[in-house]
Parts: sequence; structure tokens; C-alpha cells
Amino acid sequence: MHYNYKPYYMAKENSNIIKNFIVFEGLDGAGTTTQSKLLYKNLLSRKIDCILEAEPTPSPIGHLIRTEYLSKKSYTTSWALALLYAADRENHINNKENGVRVLSDNGKIIISDRYYYSSLAYQGVTLPFDEIKAINNFADPEYLIYIDTPVDECLKRINKRNEAKELFEKYDYLLKTKENFERTFVNLNKNVKFIRLDGTLPIDTLEKQITEFINL
Ligand code: TYD
Repeated sequence: MHYNYKPYYMAKENSNIIKNFIVFEGLDGAGTTTQSKLLYKNLLSRKIDCILEAEPTPSPIGHLIRTEYLSKKSYTTSWALALLYAADRENHINNKENGVRVLSDNGKIIISDRYYYSSLAYQGVTLPFDEIKAINNFADPEYLIYIDTPVDECLKRINKRNEAKELFEKYDYLLKTKENFERTFVNLNKNVKFIRLDGTLPIDTLEKQITEFINL
């Protein structure tokens, strides 16, 4: 009898790391966008070949997520949204022209403002954590930077922006999202270089901590 069966737990090998891939994670308002831009500028100023990206990406799928659902212009179910985030990510990583894998193989540094940990944290609020995990069986980045900012502080910053609130920008939702980030990091792939930073520190202090951590 010939079995060609690979159990799920074997599908993700511990060494499954995308080299030169740097991911920022945190709640809305935590400071991931600010710090990813600063790191990008810093690397560029030292002539290091790098690219700054974000999820949801600017692809048609990512665009749909932002313009229709995060903006609350249209409504869809939690599952549909979770699948869209995963589809956008699949394209982000594996697109043959400009996906993260191709860029990494070509020696580029890729910085991404959010990755699949955001799906575990945000979609995990309304959907079973393990099921979200199952549809996000993506390789891990070489570096993961978690900006840990209290929900109150995040909401203060979001309110200051004077922009319409997006779908998840609510106290109770963000509180549960934060708990899910913790849950995610407990079982993090041991080969990921991970750092947790205090998001209430001044912008330039955080910037310094991040460049020291990346150490390129
Ligand atoms: P955000 O990264 O805050 O972008 P911007 O600052 O441009 O508004 O917005 C993305 C939102 O999408 C944020 O609320 C987090 C959420 N999100 C998920 O729920 N799941 C995911 O997998 C990703 C990547 C983001």
C-alpha cells in the first residue's frame, strides 16, 4: 500500500523562513507604519537594496479589502474577509513577478507593514483561531517586530488623525486583537528573530532600537 499523505503539522517545517523579510506587527495606531517607513529610509540612506510593502497590498484583492470592507462601504462576512486577506497574502508572497519570495531570492530586503500574524490576531476575534491558522500556513519572515502599544493609546492616536474610523478601530475589538497577538507569539517559529518593543516610547528611541535589532 502506498500512502502519499502529509499531515498538516508536517507541512510547516521549522526552517521555513523567508530570508531578508522584515515584518512589523501591531494594533491600528501602534506605530507600525511610522516605524516601517523610518527603517526603509534608514536602509536606503545606507544604499541597502530594499523595498517597503504593506498588507493589505496594492493588488486588486488588497485594494478591494481597503476600499470596500475596511472603509465600511460594503459589508461581507468574517469568513469572506479572512479568505480575502489570505488570498492577498498568497499573491504577495508567491507572485512570480514581484512576490516576496522572488525579491528575497534576488537578495532584496523586503519590509512589510503587517503579515499573517495580523490575520491570526484580527480575524481570530470572530473566527476560530485554529481555522484561521490553517488558511495562513505561510512561511515566516526572518525578522518580526511587534510594536506593543496599549489600546487606549492606539485609539487616542487614531482619533487625532481625524479620519473616518475603519472596520476594526474600536476599543473592544482591539482589546481582543491584542490578546490574540499574544496567543500568536507564544507558539512562534523558533527560527524567527523576534522583538517586542514598547510602543509608548518616543519615535526616535524606537527607531534606534529597531536599527540595532536588524543590524544590517
Ligand atoms: P492598516 O494596516 O492600519 O492600514 P492603514 O494604516 O493604511 O489604514 O489597516 C489594515 C487593517 O486591516 C487593520 O485594521 C488591520 C486589518 N488586517 C486584518 O484584519 N487582517 C490582516 O490579515 C491584515 C493584514 C490586516
